Amino acid sequence: MSEATISTLPTLHWVGDVGGHLRLIDQTLLPVEVREIDCRDLETVFEAIRSLRVRGAPAIGIAAAYGLVIGAQAANDRDEAGFFAALDSARARLAESRPTAVNLFWALDRTHGVALAARGATSPREIVARLLAEARAIHEEDRAMCRAIGRYGAELLADGQGVLTHCNAGGLATSDYGTALAVFFSAQESGKRLRVYADETRPLLQGARLTAWELQQRGIDVTLICDSMAAQVMREGRVQAVVTGADRIAANGDTANKIGTYGVAVLAAAHDIPFYVAAPTSTFDLSLAGGSQIPIEQRDKREITHGFGRQTAPEGVKVYNPAFDVTPARLIRAIICERGVIAPVTRERIAAALR
Ligand code: MRU
Repeated sequence: MSEATISTLPTLHWVGDVGGHLRLIDQTLLPVEVREIDCRDLETVFEAIRSLRVRGAPAIGIAAAYGLVIGAQAANDRDEAGFFAALDSARARLAESRPTAVNLFWALDRTHGVALAARGATSPREIVARLLAEARAIHEEDRAMCRAIGRYGAELLADGQGVLTHCNAGGLATSDYGTALAVFFSAQESGKRLRVYADETRPLLQGARLTAWELQQRGIDVTLICDSMAAQVMREGRVQAVVTGADRIAANGDTANKIGTYGVAVLAAAHDIPFYVAAPTSTFDLSLAGGSQIPIEQRDKREITHGFGRQTAPEGVKVYNPAFDVTPARLIRAIICERGVIAPVTRERIAAALR
């Protein structure tokens, strides 16, 4: 096992300058092994996103932006038409990697837009340099967004509270500090002591493997529970707030996040516990009126039948494996974004906050 810790190793970063490559922590190996992988070609970036080596909506967006740079670099000696054909196909390939987190499409559109704006005015080599600058800007802005979300969210929590989170919306899901976990980190920094309950988050165990690890590393009191224990933990009065991240938020506030989040929100409502969503504005998709329009990723059945490194279900059993669910806005007390706290969660408040 590597000696590296969360504080010494970035979730992902660009190595070198133009002509460089993307390096990221292979999150499928955590918490047993901390190992980085280098992505020097488009297919390696695609595979890293598809296989959740890099995951979490903001981190997926950053990886995709750098992925587009890698795709463009490979074609920078072509003529303009050839270069843009390669860029378009790189963008299309990356867009196929995962469907739910809108940050992926947001980051691809943003970087691709920079290339389009430069078309005809400059060389492919210069466009690659601009793409890299834009990807770096997305990366840098994400850091600032996480910090702001943390500050706003921490105001909603009180010293000594128990809080529950689902999946991993921490530094591993972003550039450095997280969204939901940023709220806990920021609260802790301001002197509030929290007791965090982390749902293990079946089937891929992001809560157990990543959130528990990350909170431990940052010295936050964390208790791991199986997803099925959340109701009991709430009934026992151990939890005073729930904070999760988001993969896509529709114009009316309906929020897609890791499968199981909707159930946690229903349980929180049943126990009169506030349920908060923490997400940057890049996670909103105002083109969708409501959550039923959010595409939900369906994943391989083996994640359920062979989830613990061995077969845990009968051969040939039918499996349904949606990776995300949608929590209706009415169950969300507030959405915490880098511009402040949106509450109540209504179409009008969201439109005003994003204007
Ligand atoms: O499948 P994953 O691990 O990419 O799912 C991640 C989540 O659902 C996170 O909660 C979400 O992306 C927010 S990350 C700040």
